[in-house]
Amino acid sequence: MTLHKTIAIDGPAASGKTTVGRIVARKLGFRFLDTGWMYRAVAHAGLSAQLNLHDQAEMSRLAERLTMRLLQTESGERLHIDGKDVTDRLFEPTVDQGASTVAAISGVRRALVYQQRKIAQDGPIVMTGRDIGTVVLPDSPVKVYLDASAETRAMRRFEERQNRHGSPSYEEVLDSLIARDRMDSERSDSPLKPAVDAVIIDTDSLDACETANRIIDLIEGA
Ligand code: DC
Repeated sequence: MTLHKTIAIDGPAASGKTTVGRIVARKLGFRFLDTGWMYRAVAHAGLSAQLNLHDQAEMSRLAERLTMRLLQTESGERLHIDGKDVTDRLFEPTVDQGASTVAAISGVRRALVYQQRKIAQDGPIVMTGRDIGTVVLPDSPVKVYLDASAETRAMRRFEERQNRHGSPSYEEVLDSLIARDRMDSERSDSPLKPAVDAVIIDTDSLDACETANRIIDLIEGA
């Protein structure tokens, strides 16, 4: 049972969860965890070790054995795996796709959900992901599902990734996003979907601060 206040924010790729979640956490003085980083970390570790990311047993063992530490630094969060800072590698296109592959493996999810719940027990936290309101923290008093059209999300991701990782074109970003949406929402274990008691916020015409303010209003009313 979670004793501390938790805020669950879910939604598809590039729906603004991370930017918005960070703002909400800063305003409330809560910790922040983007659980997508953990799935990315497993994919990155698997790719680095040249493992087959579709091998369910191998990837589940990897997720159980990796030691992940999230550090809050002056320049933002940094993720260390087995003592090594891998943050800058987590957003490479191969890791984008690999994370969706490993996220469909139940053994990987079980290992990461276990760690996420333990982190939530350490104090108030804003957690973002795909299954926070439905699976990880179903007792959260505030659950939000951020949504936006695929085109808006692809444009955000395209602008964010320009000059990084080979600058993919807008069309490439859109195609990759649609493929990941499909994998995330069609997998059998914990598919992407709003919790029945989540408040759905469409961010097509809202910026990150406006969205964060809506969430703060919900928290104050909870
Ligand atoms: O939010 P993101 O794009 O960084 O997430 C990376 C991948 O991990 C994405 O395919 C969805 C998956 N994921 C998940 O299945 N459950 C979560 N709680 C967080 C992310």
